[in-house]
Order: sequence, then structure tokens, then C-alpha cells
Amino acid sequence: MPTEFSQRARRLTSSAIREILKVTASPDVISFAGGIPAPETFPVDLLHAASEQIFAEEAREALQYSLTEGFLPLRRWVASRHGAKVDQVLITTGSQQALDLLGKALLDPGAIVLVESPTYLGALQAFSLSEPIFRELVCDDAGISTSEVAPAAVADAALAYLMPNFQNPTGRLMSAQRRTEFCRLMSEARVLIVEDDPYGELAFVGQSLPSLRSINPEGVAYLGSFSKVLSPGLRIGYVIAPEWLTAKLTQLKQAADLHSSSFDQRLAYRVLASGAMPAQIERVRQCYASRCEAMLQALEDTMPAGVRWNRPQGGMFIWVNLPSHCDSHLLLQQSIDVSRQTRVAFVPGAPFHAVVPRSDCLRLSFVTVDADRIRTGIAQLADNIRAL
Ligand SMILES: Cc1ncc(COP(=O)(O)O)c(C=O)c1O
Repeated sequence: MPTEFSQRARRLTSSAIREILKVTASPDVISFAGGIPAPETFPVDLLHAASEQIFAEEAREALQYSLTEGFLPLRRWVASRHGAKVDQVLITTGSQQALDLLGKALLDPGAIVLVESPTYLGALQAFSLSEPIFRELVCDDAGISTSEVAPAAVADAALAYLMPNFQNPTGRLMSAQRRTEFCRLMSEARVLIVEDDPYGELAFVGQSLPSLRSINPEGVAYLGSFSKVLSPGLRIGYVIAPEWLTAKLTQLKQAADLHSSSFDQRLAYRVLASGAMPAQIERVRQCYASRCEAMLQALEDTMPAGVRWNRPQGGMFIWVNLPSHCDSHLLLQQSIDVSRQTRVAFVPGAPFHAVVPRSDCLRLSFVTVDADRIRTGIAQLADNIRAL
């Protein structure tokens, strides 16, 4: 019997967020910690009806093994929506799997990965298995500060990973001008961009901005997901990439899990093809926009001077900067202490930083808590910050 895990397995530690979620699962905790969608937005009736149709009309196909590339009608739907060729589309088990496959396809130990600061923890975990070196790019409220990207500092990179729309964890939106500029810089440096876009359809106001893929299709692997607009439990996402890359990702996926669930792909496809998605997305947007507004108002009403936060125009998160003497990990420990009458949880900011961890910041999710509990929770958090 082996006595030790592989070096790769030893490097993986339990995610800080997962550990926190265990503590905060208790119903008496007001939790702004989860990065999960509001379950009341799941289109349960639509999915139920679609599932009955599948059993009535195509049960044996839906219960059989299928192609690694994915269910063809679903791939066609994705391709036509994004102006891509079907051969560029691979259906994945959530966009998280696409991150894993991209890491396996493109990263050797020591490869340079350019990331935003802060960035999505799950991407850091997925890429870390390949032992890359992360390099943080300077960011502000409009995303990566392209004017501060020195060509010499990116020329040796294997890929650049970013979330232009309502970024996790900050909720920020990359400006149109920076999208164009970033594509130009990466194209000149011949660095592949990994554009992760699970929140793009959750804009509360205004038009969506051009995807990086639409600016430079040959230089971008675009990751989409149905987790935030349909249901995360289905585990259906996709990657659209230049064909040479999609072909390699497909081989890697075959080795990983043969294919994503035949049944769930058909389920997602039936709902997408039914024409019900625009109304479904609107329902999610309205629910999240009103909860976001409730949280912004509560922050405005209760937070002490020196605490700053952004005003997201979509997505699921608000990023809070505390006065520099405040440690958000300590704040969390105090806020979820069992002796407290009102316990409140959030995710401390440090783990979202790939290189230089900052402890004077935190992420709040506004989507799974109703407006009354948002007000109670934020008021308590403000008191806890005052007492630090
Ligand atoms: C930025 C980002 N990328 C990818 C994922 C993974 O999503 P899924 O695998 O459910 O598509 C998440 C989940 O929260 C996310 O926030």
C-alpha cells in the first residue's frame, strides 16, 4: 500500500473557501460567503418538464455513453450564439473542467501564468497542479491597467487568465477600451488569453461589452457556463477555442471523464432551445440587482469611515477594502463565533491573491440572502469592524 501521495496531490490543500462554507452552512449564520447562485432562481418546472420529455422521447440515447466533444445540438447552439465553428466548441463538466484541461494542455512546471489581482481561487487551484509561476497584473476598478503592462514582463508567459465581466471576487467590469488594448498587447506578445465568463449575462443595466474572443478569436480560449443562469448542479459548461487547441482539450477530456453527462447536456439543450432563456435570465438579473442594491444601501448606512467598496453593475459579488490595520481573517473568526447572537460570514480576501496576499479586504456575495437579512448581517459586520 503506498504510504505517500504524489507530489502533485500533496500540493493540493483544501480550499479556504470550502472550509469556511462548512462552518457557515448552519442556518443561524447569515452567510455572504458562498459563491453559489440563489436556488429560488433555478427553473425547476422547465427542467422537470424537459426531463420528462427526454424520458419519453430519447431515454436510451440520454442514458448511453456519448461523444467526448459533447451533444451536437448543444455544441451547435453554443457555436451559433458565439459566431464560432462547431469544431471549436467542447462541452465541459462546468467551466471548472475547462480550466483544468487548459492547465494540462498548456502549462509545464515553471510556466508563467498572468492573472488579475485579485483573481478566481478555483482557477489558481486548477492551474497550480501544473506548478506554474503566477504573475499578477496591476488592476483597478476597470480591470487590468493595460497602460502598466510592460511588454517585456509578459513576453515569456504561457497564458493570461482573466474575467472581464463582473469578476470573481471583485464584481468589476473591464472597460471596452482596455479589452481592445489587452488583446493587442497579448497578441503582440503571442500570449493566449483565457477569458472566463460565467457572469457575463448577469448585467443589471446597460449593454454587454465585446468579449475578448470577439476582438481576437485566434488568440482567446473563451469559457462559458450554464451554472449561473440555469443550474450549477447540471455541471454543464463549454470552451470555445481555436481548433488546434479544442482538439487537444478534447483528447485530455477523454482521458479525464470520457464525456459530460449525456442526460444533463440534453436537459440543458432542451431548456435553451425552448426559447425560455431570455425570461429566465431576466428573472435572475432582477433578483440579484435588487439584492445588490439592498447590500449597497446597507453598507452605505452602516459602515464606519475608512471602509470602501465597489458598486457592481452585475454578477454576484461586492469587494470591500477595510482600513489597513484590519485583518479580514480575524474579522471572520470573530464574526462567526458561536457566542455571538448574530453570526455573519464572508470570504477573507487573502486567498484570492496569487502572489501578494492582502488581508485588509473581503468578498461579499449578495445573492443568496434576502434583503432583510442582508440589512441585519451588514449592520452586524459594521459593528464587528468598529470593534476590531
Ligand atoms: C470565475 C469562475 N470561473 C469558473 C467557475 C466554475 O463554474 P462552473 O464549473 O460551475 O461552470 C466559477 C464558479 O463560481 C467562477 O466564479
